[in-house]
Amino acid sequence: MNFEFSEEQRMIQESAKDFAEKEIAPTAIERDKNAVFPAEILKKMGELGFMGMMVSPDYGGAGMDTISYVLAMIEISKVDASLGVIMSVNNSLVCWGLEEYGSEFIKKKYLIPLAQGEKLGAFALSEPEAGSDATKQKTTADKDGDFYLLNGIKNWITNGLSADCYLVVATTDKEKGHHGISTFVVEKGWEGFGHGVKEDKLGIRSSDTCSLTFENCKVPKENIVWGEGKGFNFAMNTLNGGRIGIAAQAVGIAEASLNRAVKYSKERKAFGTEIANHQAIQFKIADMAVKVNAAKMLTLKAAALKDAGKKFYTEAAMAKLYSSKIAVECALEAIQIHGGYGYVREYIVERYLRDSKITEIYEGTSEIQKIVIARSLLKD
Ligand code: CAA
Repeated sequence: MNFEFSEEQRMIQESAKDFAEKEIAPTAIERDKNAVFPAEILKKMGELGFMGMMVSPDYGGAGMDTISYVLAMIEISKVDASLGVIMSVNNSLVCWGLEEYGSEFIKKKYLIPLAQGEKLGAFALSEPEAGSDATKQKTTADKDGDFYLLNGIKNWITNGLSADCYLVVATTDKEKGHHGISTFVVEKGWEGFGHGVKEDKLGIRSSDTCSLTFENCKVPKENIVWGEGKGFNFAMNTLNGGRIGIAAQAVGIAEASLNRAVKYSKERKAFGTEIANHQAIQFKIADMAVKVNAAKMLTLKAAALKDAGKKFYTEAAMAKLYSSKIAVECALEAIQIHGGYGYVREYIVERYLRDSKITEIYEGTSEIQKIVIARSLLKD
């Protein structure tokens, strides 16, 4: 086993850290407070190659491995988890899925601008009555000559308002169950495609989330991804990689919580000394450090398996399950160490708690990750 990162991986980690501290940190509190979408920052991230990190340069991407992507996601999410999720959806769910399963037409038309960060993508699987139980897709896509007519509602769509291209999952043949589900690329502005209001969220407030509506929205037949009936498998395969991204986002939040707890405990005095000198605080910091390292290892292991072309979905689910759990725990402990200061915006750790909770919910709740893990262990 090699625990050393390559020169290139270290450089990417450094440049993500540098970018996050200089370009993202100064506006993070305000954007969270006022729920402002970071359009300008995303433009710069696109120029630096952070929006299509794993896509081949042939399709406008940076051609990097999943480990580099995880390292960059951790650094960005340490500073602003909202940017972490926007970046993760574009990289893992949209670009990866299109490169792996899209036709040459789709790759040239949609993947290139998405990977270059000129356009932004969204992934529309969830519905009002199909969240965890994703096979119950009520959105339909009926063939009509050279088009499909899309009808239905999608819920909780990250980048819902700001995206340019949407991967929309819909039923093309009800009789075939999950093998009658297909995925389409749909462009913003097409007739019959609308959206709901921006959700007023607990956390990741600088990312936008909304519902989408389709009323006889005409989608050209060449915009189907991978072919009819492959849409559910497409979504499952894509989400496996997405879970590595969300695990990295959670590790970033947990590590940021630890770093702030360490810094504050060396500054704050109580009972005649810095609180870092009290064992009550040291025990908390030690527990947080162990958790952050364990979560990082699980996430990097899933990434390494994916890079090696090996089966990685169990490890991706483990990484997401554990990292999201400890992100919430570490954020709570960071608040506890800060005392009353931890409860106000200025000291930032309260945002870590609000941002961390969603990592236990999206791209499959913790309970779904347990199902994925248990089924993979029990099936043989
Ligand atoms: N990887 C690959 N394929 C998988 C898979 C996985 N992890 N899990 C299931 N599948 C495949 C199965 O192999 C099977 O395929 P075939 O029939 O072709 O052989 C098919 O999916 C159906 O499998 P199951 O019978 O096991 O399906 P199920 O109905 O019992 O559900 C589930 C399985 C794991 C619960 C699945 O529905 C699931 O993952 N649900 C959660 C959905 C989810 O993560 N939604 C997140 C929304 S996207 C989002 O949050 C993005 C964002 O905005 C941030």
